[in-house]
Amino acid sequence: MKKIRVGLAGLGTVGAEVFRILSGLPAFEVTVVSARDKSKNRGLDMAGVAWVDSPIDLSVRQDVDVVVELMGGDGDPAYSLVKHALQNKKSVVTANKALLAHHGVELARLAEDNRVGLCYEAAVAGGIPIIKMLREGLAANDIAAVYAILNGTCNYILTTMEQTGKDFPTVLKEAQALGYAEADPSLDVDGGDTGHKLSLLTALAFGCAPDLQSMSIAGIRAVSAEDMRVADELGYRIKLVGQASKLDDGKILHMVSPSLVPKSSPMAHADGVLNAILIEGHLVGQSFVSGRGAGAKPTASAVVADLIDISCGANILPFVKPVDELSQTPQVSFANWQGEFYVRLVVKDEAGVIADIAPILRDLNISIESLIQKGQTTESSVSVIIMTHDTNGQDILGAMKKISQLKCVLEKPFVMPVLKI
Ligand code: NAP
Ligand code: HSE
Repeated sequence: MKKIRVGLAGLGTVGAEVFRILSGLPAFEVTVVSARDKSKNRGLDMAGVAWVDSPIDLSVRQDVDVVVELMGGDGDPAYSLVKHALQNKKSVVTANKALLAHHGVELARLAEDNRVGLCYEAAVAGGIPIIKMLREGLAANDIAAVYAILNGTCNYILTTMEQTGKDFPTVLKEAQALGYAEADPSLDVDGGDTGHKLSLLTALAFGCAPDLQSMSIAGIRAVSAEDMRVADELGYRIKLVGQASKLDDGKILHMVSPSLVPKSSPMAHADGVLNAILIEGHLVGQSFVSGRGAGAKPTASAVVADLIDISCGANILPFVKPVDELSQTPQVSFANWQGEFYVRLVVKDEAGVIADIAPILRDLNISIESLIQKGQTTESSVSVIIMTHDTNGQDILGAMKKISQLKCVLEKPFVMPVLKI
């Protein structure tokens, strides 16, 4: 059988592992590689493998059948490499969720026009085959909702906060020292990485284009040690959840937010660096998967799975449907979310505070399920936690805007949806 000749751009954490795995698979031959620094010792036997300084050159090489892009980033050189490779009728495998979240439609159209593959199993949830599950395994289902923990860094931080009682800044620093969090953690802890991945799952689950613009994204910086304790007492765990669902009016809702997850849900027990996804389909009911969403081996496992699919001749359209047939249904976010909310207010410890807050909630028809006041936060401030009955995000946003303008309210209110999963 003719070997598949692979051009590999990026020899970092994932790329080096892909190189190692492919070296042991007779069906593949890595013919050309590219990275930034040719002189770096990567512990790889690259005898007989050509090197190009510019990764974009891989797209025109005669000795490359498939390009594997493992550099990262939504701009160049990753963007131009993938674009030119597809234009030159070479299939592409990538783990780059940022690139696909921003340029997915354009690149999918190129793959479709040139009848080549654009495969990205590794871009979402690393070693969990969630792309294959949505594209193939659950293809017969109308998907009602997807709930997903997609960022190992955030899940590690939240789990450690819960287990140790430490606050976010302390745990983040420790995670950085241990190498679990990046020196610049913003893409992870501010929810952007989860947003990139969720936009791809939304597209696959609901047959629409990835649409980051319409997605509200909140990260985990505001989650406090106190939120952890109160959530625990109320029977919940706090997770950074990306959720996508079909609303009754047909619109697609997608949003990323720290959320209260009932302890009875399997999602609450995906701890540490694990990722987890819960899918509700009309035929399968609930389907839950959990596993390693990052790291060299799990991510490389997904990259090589895509290469094996390509070597078998599988060529499924990147978003299952042709780009022109992707649904134009509006995608909406937090304001359209309906359910119960957890609200933490830090207020002056003085008489009349609740009397100021209550009318604002009443005027927006927000009904309180319970109200908890926890000791003193500082000498002069106190936290008030409100659990609401069913309401919608728009009214909650409106109420929080008004409440934050009250003199007695000392910090920006912190709000989390309470999930029923
Ligand atoms: P990494 O360790 O930082 O490696 C990046 C590689 O790309 C390095 O070999 C680097 O070259 C090369 N590179 C970067 N910029 C380049 C440029 N301008 N020109 C040429 N080469 C360049 O990254 P990684 O963790 O392997 O991640 C790779 C991709 O996989 C990203 O899209 C990431 O989001 C995705 N991903 C990673 C994980 C994970 O667990 N790490 C999980 C899922 C998805 P040098 O080595 O010479 O610096
Ligand atoms: N930074 C990501 C995480 C890597 O923490 O999950 C995998 O995409």
